[in-house]
Amino acid sequence: MPENLLKGKKGIITGALDENSIAWQAALKAKEQGAKFVLTNAPIAMRMGAIKELADHCDTIIIPADATSVEDIEKLYDEAKEYLGGNFDFLLHSIGMSPNVRKGKPYGDLNYEWVQKSYDVSAISFHKMLQVAEKKDILNEWASVVGLSYIAAQRAFPFYSDMSEAKAILESIARNYGLRYGKLKKVRVNTISQSPTKTTAGSGIGGFNDFYDFADIASPLGNASAASCAEYIVTLFSDFTRMVTMQNLFHDGGYSSSGITQELIDVFMENNK
Ligand SMILES: NC(=O)c1ccc[n+]([C@@H]2O[C@H](COP(=O)([O-])OP(=O)(O)OC[C@H]3O[C@@H](n4cnc5c(N)ncnc54)[C@H](O)[C@@H]3O)[C@@H](O)[C@H]2O)c1
Repeated sequence: MPENLLKGKKGIITGALDENSIAWQAALKAKEQGAKFVLTNAPIAMRMGAIKELADHCDTIIIPADATSVEDIEKLYDEAKEYLGGNFDFLLHSIGMSPNVRKGKPYGDLNYEWVQKSYDVSAISFHKMLQVAEKKDILNEWASVVGLSYIAAQRAFPFYSDMSEAKAILESIARNYGLRYGKLKKVRVNTISQSPTKTTAGSGIGGFNDFYDFADIASPLGNASAASCAEYIVTLFSDFTRMVTMQNLFHDGGYSSSGITQELIDVFMENNK
């Protein structure tokens, strides 16, 4: 196992809700690899309490912030800078929520106020985190900013509803802010397109368990877990990936490049005997 990949690095990790969260796993890995960071989540998520355990384990603090609020992000950066004693080397955006998905609204009957909310929480908040970072000049040279995406940004998945567009916006922000921030200060911005993962956000999607199983057998390596995603995130925060920016990087056991697998054919044939 590599050691101290993030030694001396400081940052912010959003989105750890419980131990299933991708961000929770990322925090454990970042801590193991020597990083110092602050945890943050929406004030409502903090009331659920589990994140306190993570903060104790990681020997850090939690600063509540609604990622749709520029004022909250400004306060988050100011307080985190004071606590960490300097500017940041990494930011993890691990935030997603669609009221339409949560409330089971079909794609042909979307509530448009909720659509705005989905985009604001799941995508525009990424731009806000980057824009506030730029205005405050709070990122060090070669800092790494990572957001979490899903393949429904490129391909149609009936159950993913308005989150598909939210992820397409998220990935576009990574490209456009990556171009800007790379020129400005050598800051890199990428998204990781992760396998279906059994988390609160993931499991809230209709038919999730069936699709999870389908993706597992459609991927030569099987679905990537939250823990392995955390390892990939750490490599992107490390100095070993310095020239990677403006990318959407698939972390999905090969799903995105698979046409069909023998296992899928076998299941289909078995069911059609
Ligand atoms: N689980 C999957 O199948 C899967 C697959 C690909 C990508 N992703 C993405 O990974 C990211 C993390 O999700 P997860 O699967 O770990 O689920 P999760 O439910 O554990 O995490 C989602 C987080 O978003 C936070 N959040 C929601 N609204 C917020 C707001 N206004 N301000 C700040 N935080 C807010 C929640 O409190 C929660 O901690 C999301 O972007 C999700 O879309 C998940």
